Amino acid sequence: MKEAVIGIIGGTGGMGRWFAELLQKEGYTVHVWGRKSPMSIKDLVDLCNVIVISVPISATAEMIKKVGPLMSPDKLLMDLTSLKKEPVELMLVHSQADVVGCHPLFGPLLEDVRGQNIVLCPARGKKWPIWLKAIMNKNGLIVTEITPEEHDEKMAIVQVLNHLNTITLGLVLAETGIDFLEINKFSTPIFHKKIEIIKKVFTENPGLYTDIITHNPSTEKMIDLYAKILADIRSTVKWGDGSQLKEAMEKAAKKLF
Ligand SMILES: NC(=O)c1ccc[n+]([C@@H]2O[C@H](COP(=O)([O-])OP(=O)(O)OC[C@H]3O[C@@H](n4cnc5c(N)ncnc54)[C@H](OP(=O)(O)O)[C@@H]3O)[C@@H](O)[C@H]2O)c1
Repeated sequence: MKEAVIGIIGGTGGMGRWFAELLQKEGYTVHVWGRKSPMSIKDLVDLCNVIVISVPISATAEMIKKVGPLMSPDKLLMDLTSLKKEPVELMLVHSQADVVGCHPLFGPLLEDVRGQNIVLCPARGKKWPIWLKAIMNKNGLIVTEITPEEHDEKMAIVQVLNHLNTITLGLVLAETGIDFLEINKFSTPIFHKKIEIIKKVFTENPGLYTDIITHNPSTEKMIDLYAKILADIRSTVKWGDGSQLKEAMEKAAKKLF
């Protein structure tokens, strides 16, 4: 499919730029589109047979509704959104094009993506998923194909729960009023690593994390579970007696590992 010409909406941003570079390295012509681009979206679609949506999650639905109707059935409409159910459904409803949902499970700053996971949700058409998968495999990515619903369920754990945990820790740390310069002198390697993660989540692109949390259908369930566990810990931990907590941890370890 060397004749593929790709247009990336939001290609001026992190993931869009990453994908543009990957495809350019493979010899494809890639047009990067941002809101300040002089070209209209209609002209971009006319020029390309693959359109990739890579805008913030909160702007994705609106963008799909704008682009989808411009796409003919022979083209591919795909996205890089961190959630899959809503974008894939919208791409199917608002276009006649082939549709593939794609979620790279890493950030755009990672220098070597070999060995990293990427999810594909092929939703309409046969030839484009094969084309995409071949490019991903060639670049050492581990491709997993699942339904958008299954993807979002997995992300409720890998991203929603994980980032909620980081955000909770960061907010609690800020509440304590700790002096970071001072606490650094007492940091353990694990604490240091956690601070690095909190710094990334709180300062690099906080909107991405809040979008990931607020757009997942299972978020409420995850927050309820998190709150329940915290309440359980609150009620079991007594001064000088961690026996119930230890028992709960041993039970969990048996389930997990
Ligand atoms: N960053 C990650 O770690 C990561 C990982 C996997 C998947 N993703 C997904 O990739 C997508 C893009 O995320 P990103 O991190 O690359 O974000 P980003 O760096 O902010 O880039 C998004 C681009 O979209 C454009 N944009 C911003 N607001 C817009 C709006 N209201 N309407 C239309 N275009 C708008 C901007 O370009 P202009 O200002 O030039 O228009 C911006 O460069 C998201 O769906 C995210 O879930 C991100």
